Amino acid sequence: MGTLEGRVGVVTGAASGIGAATARRLVAEGARVLLADIQDDVGGALAESLGPNAAYRHCNVAKESDVAAAIGEAAERWGTLDVIHNNAGFVGVTGPLEETTDDEWNQTLAVLLSSVFYGIKHATPIMKAAGAGSIVNTASVCGLYAGIGSHVYTVAKHGVVGITRSSALELAEHNIRVNAVCPGYIATGLAAGRAVSEIDEEELQRRLARARGAMETSQPLARMGEPDDIAAAVAWLASDDSAWVTGTTQIVDGGLTVGKPWRKQAAGFAEKRPIRMYAPGTYS
Ligand SMILES: NC(=O)c1ccc[n+]([C@@H]2O[C@H](COP(=O)([O-])OP(=O)(O)OC[C@H]3O[C@@H](n4cnc5c(N)ncnc54)[C@H](O)[C@@H]3O)[C@@H](O)[C@H]2O)c1
Repeated sequence: MGTLEGRVGVVTGAASGIGAATARRLVAEGARVLLADIQDDVGGALAESLGPNAAYRHCNVAKESDVAAAIGEAAERWGTLDVIHNNAGFVGVTGPLEETTDDEWNQTLAVLLSSVFYGIKHATPIMKAAGAGSIVNTASVCGLYAGIGSHVYTVAKHGVVGITRSSALELAEHNIRVNAVCPGYIATGLAAGRAVSEIDEEELQRRLARARGAMETSQPLARMGEPDDIAAAVAWLASDDSAWVTGTTQIVDGGLTVGKPWRKQAAGFAEKRPIRMYAPGTYS
């Protein structure tokens, strides 16, 4: 029996990458899952391949009415809502803030941050009525540190961490848990720049192969992350195995934010050397 047997979930951004891996994993754990995305062909085909415990619905997460409708459809189809993974995202506007227009700022925040607000807002009444729920938001290591991603992406992901913590406090008394996953570099179209440069599948795979190669030396756990690494964390946060966990930011980054890989540390520290004793007064 899976850890989510009989549960009902919604995953946004479920047509590809982390969302697709999560949808697959939640269904494998026994849940019924509504996949929400704007890539209707790919998302529809994935839902079809997952069988009767999955369905697809078009949903632009930047529109509150779309998010409300996706959540409403899941609850109507399967009677309740136990889990929502607010995950859809893109890179959004990049570059210096002085060159960022108001529209670019607003659109980026709408997709990356307002979407999470909409997901929490519309999941809450159903979860309150059910007496329990688990909300998992995809933030990023960029939600915890600056300088890894672009400006507005970093702002938005810090916001996702903020709304995770703040709403966790509000909803705890209703037995609704709210947590975030903070992925490092994960091998998806987003990480390979597909969304910003409209690349085809062949070019995507070439870029991902290059990125995977580079991460073999740059990461403490010597590989790039895969969508399944994040899906596993989401499935745990969605399940009762994490029943006493709320308001957390679960970092899944292969050690990226911990520090330099041991093998890359200055030779003087990485090599074993005997302690040199100095007599007082002999320092030069
Ligand atoms: N890949 C990484 O390295 C990485 C690292 C940290 C965080 N993340 C976050 O993970 C999440 C998923 O990204 P991914 O890496 O799987 O990328 P991806 O491009 O493979 O998947 C993103 C999905 O979101 C969908 N989407 C984009 N805009 C949407 C909108 N307005 N409405 C509905 N769906 C929309 C896309 O169609 C796509 O299916 C994002 O929130 C991203 O910021 C990714």
